[in-house]
Amino acid sequence: MTEDIVLLSGNKGERYRKVELQIKAFLESETDLMANLANISAALKENFHFFWVGFYLVKEGELVLAPFQGPVACSRIAKGRGVCGTSWKEDKSILVPNVLEFPGHISCNALSRSEIVIPLHTTEGDVGGVLDVDSEFIDFFDAIDLRWLTRIADLIVL
Ligand code: SME
Repeated sequence: MTEDIVLLSGNKGERYRKVELQIKAFLESETDLMANLANISAALKENFHFFWVGFYLVKEGELVLAPFQGPVACSRIAKGRGVCGTSWKEDKSILVPNVLEFPGHISCNALSRSEIVIPLHTTEGDVGGVLDVDSEFIDFFDAIDLRWLTRIADLIVL
């Protein structure tokens, strides 16, 4: 079954390519947004062992926590606050090699050390949420993560 979470082998780019295919299969076989975001966060967590991976969605002027995998996290983030709120406000991807050096970083968990946030868009092209991935290691994410996580985020139309 396409929904089966499998441990994928190969280098990082190859693993992203396979996870992207898995995510495309989720999106083609299911229309419910929450079900798809839940499976996408599980597929990323399972295959890359990120510390935290999940979604925040724009609701009534705030980012509100949506499906995720990992430790409990902040429920709401204001526009322009933290890495997520900044990504939303500026409609741009943000790679943070060391969260202690990002002014205003919101620490949902003291173990998080580096982070990458990618905006998600609505059919009208507005930012409707973000994909947030955290690592417990400094400088964990690179251009390969940025490229593939952006491709994955672009598959999700809100
Ligand atoms: N660190 C984020 C908050 C979300 S958690 O990391 C899950 C931020 O600064 O926006």
